[in-house]
Amino acid sequence: MSHIKTENKDGILFLAFNRPDKKNAITLDMYRAFTAALKSAQADAAVRVVLVHGEGTAFTAGNDLADFLSVPIDENSPLPPFLDALTHFEKPLVAAVTGPAVGIGTTMLLHCDLAYCDTTAKFAMPFTNLGLVPEGGSSYLLPRIAGQARAAELLMLGDPFSGAKAKEAGLINDVVAPEKLMETALAAAKKLAAQPPTALRLTKSLLKRWSRETMDRAVSAELDIFAQQLRGPEAKEAMTAFFEKRKPDFSKFKQSN
Ligand code: COA
Repeated sequence: MSHIKTENKDGILFLAFNRPDKKNAITLDMYRAFTAALKSAQADAAVRVVLVHGEGTAFTAGNDLADFLSVPIDENSPLPPFLDALTHFEKPLVAAVTGPAVGIGTTMLLHCDLAYCDTTAKFAMPFTNLGLVPEGGSSYLLPRIAGQARAAELLMLGDPFSGAKAKEAGLINDVVAPEKLMETALAAAKKLAAQPPTALRLTKSLLKRWSRETMDRAVSAELDIFAQQLRGPEAKEAMTAFFEKRKPDFSKFKQSN
């Protein structure tokens, strides 16, 4: 069974995280498959819009923490190509979020054009809690979208937050009842699919154009620091604690440069 599911219906590519028993945590293979799906959607005239969602009760629990513990981010990592495909995707991207949307599950919404969630959605960017730093351009985009104070709160405390708070912060267009989620996201996707595609592509490109260069630099700078932190003792303690189902203990660590 593929952990990334795709289905094209009437010009809308449904792109789903499909590992429900692990809350759709994203493995290396899932990054690769997601990237390939975005690239083929980009090239395929039969795809007008991509609708990203999660199978089961989660959008995604973010990067698989076992992979984080065992696989470094280096030139073979599928994470940089995934971020590149996501941040440079030219067609409309719509997200439908149910349940947890953790880490990249939240930061990827910064690159979706429209995002809807239901009342079960719980967002979190627990990068510092994991001994890591923001990724996906979020250190640049989140302060612009949500304001400096809110970005610092969400990225430095890393606490989970509701759909209502995500909407207030500008990450989500609307919060709906669980039974209305796919209907709402699909209605928006259908409207986009009926729009003139070149005008849409140019509009999306213009919306991103003025911040593109800084955003690309942010993604790259974040990845360097992220990769370094991932190899460090703080991340090891945080992720080991997750699998040992205990609270991490950071008291022994001193701040280093
Ligand atoms: N990586 C690997 N496995 C994960 C995972 C992740 N990111 N998130 C969840 N899982 C696994 C759990 O280990 C568990 O596996 P098990 O059944 O074999 O024990 C299963 O998915 C279900 O998770 P569980 O924690 O029992 O579900 P929950 O509903 O109580 O909580 C979350 C859901 C998403 C809030 C919680 O799993 C979580 O905090 N996950 C880690 C999120 C994270 O830090 N992601 C990285 C961000 S950079």
